[in-house]
Amino acid sequence: MAETNGNVKNIGLRGVKVADTRISHVDGANGILIYRGYRIEALAEHSTFEETAYLLHHDALPKPEQLADFRKSLEEARELPGFVFDSIRKLPRSSLPMDVLQASIPLLGMADHELEDESREANLRKAIRLIARVPMIVAGWDRIRNGHDPLPADERLSHAANFLWQMTGKLPDDDISMDLDTCLVLHADHSFNASTFACRAVVSTQAHMYAAAAAGVGALSGPLHGGANTAVMRMLEALQGEGNVPGWVRKELDAGRKIMGMGHAVYKTTDPRARFLKDMCFRIGRKLGEEHWCRLSTQIEETAVAEFARRGKTTIKPNVDFFSAPVYHMMGIPGDLMTPLFAVSRIAGWTAHIIEEKFGDAHGEKPVLYRPSSEYTGHYCGKEACTYTPIEQRK
Ligand SMILES: CC(C)(COP(=O)(O)OP(=O)(O)OC[C@H]1O[C@@H](n2cnc3c(N)ncnc32)[C@H](O)[C@@H]1OP(=O)(O)O)[C@@H](O)C(=O)NCCC(=O)NCCS
Repeated sequence: MAETNGNVKNIGLRGVKVADTRISHVDGANGILIYRGYRIEALAEHSTFEETAYLLHHDALPKPEQLADFRKSLEEARELPGFVFDSIRKLPRSSLPMDVLQASIPLLGMADHELEDESREANLRKAIRLIARVPMIVAGWDRIRNGHDPLPADERLSHAANFLWQMTGKLPDDDISMDLDTCLVLHADHSFNASTFACRAVVSTQAHMYAAAAAGVGALSGPLHGGANTAVMRMLEALQGEGNVPGWVRKELDAGRKIMGMGHAVYKTTDPRARFLKDMCFRIGRKLGEEHWCRLSTQIEETAVAEFARRGKTTIKPNVDFFSAPVYHMMGIPGDLMTPLFAVSRIAGWTAHIIEEKFGDAHGEKPVLYRPSSEYTGHYCGKEACTYTPIEQRK
């Protein structure tokens, strides 16, 4: 071991390509996102979450009978053994919904009779169960913490509409269900973001899909990643009635605090998902008479972008979390359920990446365990290392 000098700059792996993937691609310079070759705008406009999930898993859009089978498998998986909700009911009502979701994923694994079957077919079936059941946990926990029982699924409803039904117990408005469906399409995958990379690192050890998905939920919960939408909603609520938004933005930046929902590790221009969500925000706002949320968001966006530019930072623009917060709020989603709702969608991408990693699909070579190196900057006592002093002799 050589003496260390601590020269490694922690760049959070920015720009480092760690693997091939066939699933999705982010072109940050041009603001382009594709899933399996298709532009996100085309999918958001024409596809559904179920079809997009199929695409992410199968590398091709489904034919009608394939989509019908996929939907049926999802519907059939919307049932849980009693012990799952019995266990969740014992958790403190004040638990963070992302913690409850992360704790529940291994329970879903324990409920899976194919847990130890590592064939490709069994992994695809496990993925379907996870996609079907994550929303049940999120909706079920919201009901439990509010003193209600979880509701059975309604097989007549789409994935998005069923989530709203299982959360509220009311049949959702068709337009709101379709908008939520579009939100799920927009959030379903995003190449090697932190949570997807966490899933891939875990599964590279040959751990099962549920162990990897639980890691994904943990990574998503942070405010620099999926947790940003909850933080944006908190900001919007705090700024309602604020007469001086530009002053507030300046104060935050002067204090070294971040404006949540702005900036991106890869996009250096507008995030295409944010553009879509901004239009959706105004459309829903007009319909529900709640446009003030979109106007406030736009005011923060415009003043923050101008203030960033004044400070020489011209690449910080709204990301997917910025306008999804007011959109979800108008759909009746509580602030702390917004990040779990991100997971309801992203589980489709995570499971596709888990399978790709497990089977080395992207490059046709055998999968490899992730094991990066680091530069040791701790104590160094030379080649022989430090002399161990027994505890009674330490002063
Ligand atoms: C997502 C994020 C971590 C990406 O950051 P990045 O561009 O890779 O790298 P950094 O965080 O180092 O940002 C570069 C600079 O821009 C600043 N910056 C980036 N986003 C900012 C924001 N939202 N508000 C204020 N300043 C921001 C950083 O403070 C840093 O400034 P410095 O060079 O003076 O230290 C960052 O934009 C962020 O924290 N955004 C807010 C949280 C968020 O919305 N997350 C969801 C992402 S989808």
